[in-house]
Amino acid sequence: MDPELIVKPDAAAVAQAAAARIVAWAGAAVATRGRFRVALSGGGTPDLLYRLLADQPGDYPVPWQQTQVFWGDERHLPPGHTGRNDTTVLPLLARLGVPADNIHPVPYVPGDLQAAAAAYEATLRGQVRVGEPLLDLVLLGLGTDGHTASLFPGTPALDVRGRLVASNRGAYEDRFPDRVTLTVPAINAAAAVMFLVTGAGKRAVLAQVLAGHTPPLPAQRIQPVAGRLLWLVDRAADPETA
Ligand code: 6PG
Repeated sequence: MDPELIVKPDAAAVAQAAAARIVAWAGAAVATRGRFRVALSGGGTPDLLYRLLADQPGDYPVPWQQTQVFWGDERHLPPGHTGRNDTTVLPLLARLGVPADNIHPVPYVPGDLQAAAAAYEATLRGQVRVGEPLLDLVLLGLGTDGHTASLFPGTPALDVRGRLVASNRGAYEDRFPDRVTLTVPAINAAAAVMFLVTGAGKRAVLAQVLAGHTPPLPAQRIQPVAGRLLWLVDRAADPETA
């Protein structure tokens, strides 16, 4: 399926469009399979989306009771650490009444990153149902270096096959480098992948990814086998916007 690119005026409009898509995809998944499994993205871009879903549940009625929440990647830090991707999201999910058993943070295993990755692999494999996609939706961001999730350029996790989750190390801004991440095959096994990209700082890298950079940037490896690929961007990040 060809990738879809939608350009919105600003980051708030991107968040609104993303929330509407999540409502639609979640409703369809619950109608057909009785559940909706989503892997959330980290970083700062989706913050507006997460707050919108939590602050306006009437406008964005996700079937949270039937929703299983995962993370596409996590920094290997203790639960509650401000450097983790789930720390700011967990209270929002609690406010939405998402059952605790439906929320699957990436484990933290002190001093053993590989064990944390293996544990998350088991968590994901434990919820697989034959004939269903691994995940209904994977939310992703885009780093200025072309990384997505914790798949950083030139790092081993990029080439992991046969596994759903890998450990990795990647330096990016001031963020903690030890990571647990979905692998490329795991993301590409999703029914839908939605990138959220906003801000002028992402324009150059987005242009490279969309045009097909050589060598391929990590985000270019995201090509769902049978699922949908949607890029939701704002004008500031859109390479086509003058
Ligand atoms: C992480 C994210 C990462 C993020 C990009 C973009 O753990 O940091 O999963 O892949 O999506 O780095 O981050 P921003 O949205 O903050 O630009």
